[in-house]
Order: sequence, then structure tokens, then C-alpha cells
Amino acid sequence: MARRSFEAEIEAVDDEVVDRAHMAPSLATLWSRRSFIKAGGTLTLAATTSTSLLALGACDRKAETTVPGFNFREVTRSVDETHHVAEGYDADILIRWGDPILKGAPAFDPQNQSAQSQSQQFGYNNDYVGFVPLPYGSNATDRGLLCVNHEYTNYDLMFPDFTSVGSMTQEQIDTAMAAHGGSIVEIARRADGKWQPVADSAYNRRITTLETAIMISGPASGHARLQTDADPTGTNVIGTMNNCAGGITPWGTYLMSEENINLYFGGTLAETREADNHKRMGVPGDRMGWAQYHKRFDVGVEPNEPNRFGWVTEVDPLAPDARPKKRTALGRFKHEGAESILTKDDRLAIYMGDDQRFEYLYKFVTARPVDLKDRTANADLLDEGTLYVARFEDDGSGKWLPLLHGQNGLDESNGFASQADVLIEARRAGDVLGATPLDRPEDVQPDGVTGRVYMSLTNNNKRKAKDAHGANPRPDNLWGQVVELIATDSDHAATTFTWDLLVTCGDPADPKVQAKWNPATSQNGWFANPDNLATDSLGRLWVVTDQGDEWNVTSGAADGVFAVDTAGPARGTSRRFFQVPVGAEMCGPCFTPDSTTLFVAVQHPAADGTENFAGFERASTFADPATRWPDFKPDMPPRPSVVAITSHKGGPIGV
Ligand code: FEO
Ligand code: CA
Ligand code: CA
Repeated sequence: MARRSFEAEIEAVDDEVVDRAHMAPSLATLWSRRSFIKAGGTLTLAATTSTSLLALGACDRKAETTVPGFNFREVTRSVDETHHVAEGYDADILIRWGDPILKGAPAFDPQNQSAQSQSQQFGYNNDYVGFVPLPYGSNATDRGLLCVNHEYTNYDLMFPDFTSVGSMTQEQIDTAMAAHGGSIVEIARRADGKWQPVADSAYNRRITTLETAIMISGPASGHARLQTDADPTGTNVIGTMNNCAGGITPWGTYLMSEENINLYFGGTLAETREADNHKRMGVPGDRMGWAQYHKRFDVGVEPNEPNRFGWVTEVDPLAPDARPKKRTALGRFKHEGAESILTKDDRLAIYMGDDQRFEYLYKFVTARPVDLKDRTANADLLDEGTLYVARFEDDGSGKWLPLLHGQNGLDESNGFASQADVLIEARRAGDVLGATPLDRPEDVQPDGVTGRVYMSLTNNNKRKAKDAHGANPRPDNLWGQVVELIATDSDHAATTFTWDLLVTCGDPADPKVQAKWNPATSQNGWFANPDNLATDSLGRLWVVTDQGDEWNVTSGAADGVFAVDTAGPARGTSRRFFQVPVGAEMCGPCFTPDSTTLFVAVQHPAADGTENFAGFERASTFADPATRWPDFKPDMPPRPSVVAITSHKGGPIGV
């Protein structure tokens, strides 16, 4: 029987949810508001400030900015056991699942894993990667803190004796819980230019679902719906889980986004007031088996525990002993990322996708400005502000609709007794406001140079022809699209925006796909299923992909990193820069402030894509994986790892 990827598991759980069809009203179809920019060689517009500008001590939002193109020879599309990077670049393994990071941590021994050892080692399935230069505020590019999410675990590739979730031991479950969360690791460049972790750094830290105490702050803190037997105050929770993409704030904190939290809950849902709320989030998804040993993950025992997950957690990597905080003002849904940019009056706007078919795009704007000089003044900035959900009109305009209790139906008449209720059930609040259901919003990335915002919509195989229009133009969308948003007056506090489809993904040579790329895009360059995004210090866009089990249908090649032009005649051209080993998903990506290093995260090597392709026609297991990347030793399983990419000639990547 074909093994199923994590994405396939999620989609199976989600099917019931999406069939409830909360579709936008059907409007006149407009395929694309604007074709590629035809005139001019570069994109020129008023730049908005970048988070990195804080470190520069600058705030030059008025400067006219041009965005250069890319210059590298593409990787050839393929699938094989290892990674590939464009000619002239090195791609070095920086850190792997199991590598010791805390002082005294044991060496990785895949045959003798324990929760205790895993709690001191780099976790599993690295996803988001952030970089905070050291010393703080320096813009250093040779030393910094790598902040890495560990999204989930693949039991069958992780444990030598795994047979089924139901037969796992508590030590295995606890080890998996310790492999979730995040890692903060100091890294530095050696004299030869290669990056390496700083062993025993006082900054090195593990955040896990098993042990890390996290405060719940903001408007929902202490609310009755967040109270449990273990925490009658509703203000403290152990752990954060399924952290997918994320962000780094201008004051150097690390935002971790909780995504598919439903998969960790088991038990039987009682007909309490939470029943519809939990169903909307797919709770209980019952895939990971944690409730066997930790009753708080049994919704029949602890019906409020799911309400304590699905948030954005803020961690201060510069204060290793400080407790992380779940910021409830940013809403509860299946958070993908939390990338931010300053508004014209120096408040912070955080863009966030809700990654499920027919879910929404959100933006949070702080009530107060960021203190650009004193980072401690921003300590609880994320507790006050306005959460908005997006509505996309087919004419290329859009609105940000505020999720404010007492306004526009977000009141008792719809079951919202307080702002806490609005935030706990942000999805349902979005329904009431008429937000636009999207094709799985993944990472949303403001470009610190141009001020434009890019959103990955990864796919939606449930979209019907009658609902395919505007920002979601294709029915049965297996390939995804990248949407560009422009804030009105270049102000990220604005409540209106315009949007355009940057690329409509899939094979440009297959007319059935109806892909739209710049014709300069080669057969190596096109991709499917955009996921995490990054922009570099030159204002250029980099897209990474997650095709899941559908890779052989959607592109026929492994996932990777793609450089996508957003400006001038090349707008909409994509080039393949890096490619992962078989079965892996591409995560990260993250640049140093000068863009001379690109960090990428190779997630679940060998885990999927193992069918119907020459040489990989079997399901991977611990004993017989499709690849043993990156160690390629017979006694080592495949290991999710962060890779550091640098240029032989020096200078920014892709120039
Ligand atoms: Fe965890 Fe939406 O990818
Ligand atoms: Ca993702
Ligand atoms: Ca990103």
C-alpha cells in the first residue's frame, strides 16, 4: 500500500472540514488583472522599511529602489538521492537532526534515542529558519543565532522498531514530543568561510512540546475556554507544536507559528460548546498518538486543551531563560508564518496565512509603534493591536476586515461574547466578515526593499469551477500560485490593497494546466506548490516548494529553491537554484543581512515521493529509506538538516 505523506494525512483530516464549503460569493471571473510589466528594466517604487533596517539604524522609506535580476546557471530538474545547487556555489550541511546543541548533550545514536537526549539535540523536521545577527543590532554576517522550527516527526523514518502509532512506547512518544518545537543555535563562520554551530554557546536552547513552559498572553489569556485541570488560570501551557514557517521581529525575537495542531489530539469529542470550534480546526485529527500517554491531548478528557494551541509564540533568542509567550492577539488558526514589516508610523504589520483549503489570509497591526532604539520597550507590543482578515475582489482590489468584537456581526448574535472568543475562533469570525477563501495560504512575505508582499497559495484540489476566479483562478488546482499584494500608499497599516497574480504555477508546456509564467522560464525553472518564501537584501524573491505526495503529478521533479523575478521585463521568470534529495520538502529559506549566505532547511528526506519513479518504487522505512542523506552511512537514517549555501566568488547569492 502506498505510504502517505504528512500533507496527505492532513488533507484526509481536512476533507470533512472543507466540504462545509464556506465559499465567497461568485463574482465575474477575471483571470489576471495585469500581465507582466512590459516597460522599464527595473521595478521602481517607494520603498518601505525592512526589518533589517533597524539594525542599520535607518528608516529610509522614501528612497527610490531598483531591484536587480538573477545571475546563475540553473540546476537541471531531476529526482535523486542527494541535493544539488547551482554551479559556483557550495551547499554545506550546517546542522542535522540529533546533533548535540546543549552543553553536555550526548552524541546522536539513532538506535538509542530518548526524550532526555532529544531535548538536548537538534530537533526533527526543520522548517522555518531565522537569523539574528550577533551582537544584537550589528548586522553581522559572520555570527548569529539560527532560530529553527521543528514542525513534526516521521515515526517510520525516525525509530528503528516502529510498526504503528498505536504500539509506540511512552519513551518513543516523549522523544517525538521533544523533537518538536524549535532550536536556537549560535553559529559562526570559520576562517575558511564555512559556517558551523558554536558548541555549548550560552544562547543554545531547545523549545519542545514535552517540557517548555510557555505563557499565554494577550486578550485571550486566562479566558475560561483556555483553562484546564493542569492550568486553571488559562495562562500557562506546556509546549508549542507543529511550528511551520515563522518570522523574526525588528527587535530580534523569533515568532513560531503553530499549524496543524489537530493531528495531535485524540479521543472522542463531546457535544460541548467547543464541538463546532474543534471540528472547524479538524480536532481531533488523531494521527500522532500522544493522547495514549498524555491525557491532555484527549479531547474527551480535556476539551479546552486544543484552544491552547494554534497560536503564534514569541521567543526571545537573546534571553535563553525568558519564557516564550503565545500571543493571542494574533488569532488562532493553522498559522503558517509570521513575517513582518513596519508601517509608515513605525507600527508592526505581521502577515499570516492559514494553511488549509478555503482558509484565509490575516494581518496583525500593533497598536503602538516599535521602539527602534530600546528593544525591551517592545516586550509586549504584540499583545495589543488589530487582527484583520483579507477579502480579495476580482478587480484586483482588496480589503482588510478587522476582527473586532462588537463590530460587523462579531457579537453575541453570532456567539462571540468577547474579543477572546473572536480570537479563539478567528476562522469563524472571518466567515462572518466575508473573507475570501483561498487555495491554502502558506508563507506570506513582505519585501523589505520594495514594500510589496508575496503570498504562496500552494494548491486546492477541492476548488470547483464555479468558485475559480480572482486570486484563486483554477478549479482542481494541483499547482498553486504566488500572489503579489501592494499596500495602499505603501503603508502596511492601510485597510486596502491591490493584488496581482505573479505566477500561476505548473507546467507551462501543458495547456490543461493553464500555468502563467514569463516565457523566459525554462523547463528547469517552472515549479509547483509554492510554500515558504524569502526576500533578500536586494529586494528579490525566492520561493521554495512542497509538492508532497503529488510531486510526480505536479512537476515530476524534487522540491527546491526558485529565484523569481518580480520586476521589469523578466517579471514572472523562475529559475531553479537548489534541489532537495528524494522525498524531502524544501523549507527555510533565510538570508544573512548581506545575502551572502542562504540557509535552507531540508525537511523529511526520504519521506515521500517514493512511488512511481525509477529507482524509488517503494515506501521508505528506517531500515530501508529511499536515501540516507546527508550522512550516507549504513547505520544512519536520513536526517532533516539545515544547509548553508555560499558563493565561490563571494558576494550575494544569485548575483
Ligand atoms: Fe507546514 Fe503549510 O506547511
Ligand atoms: Ca510550509
Ligand atoms: Ca518567509
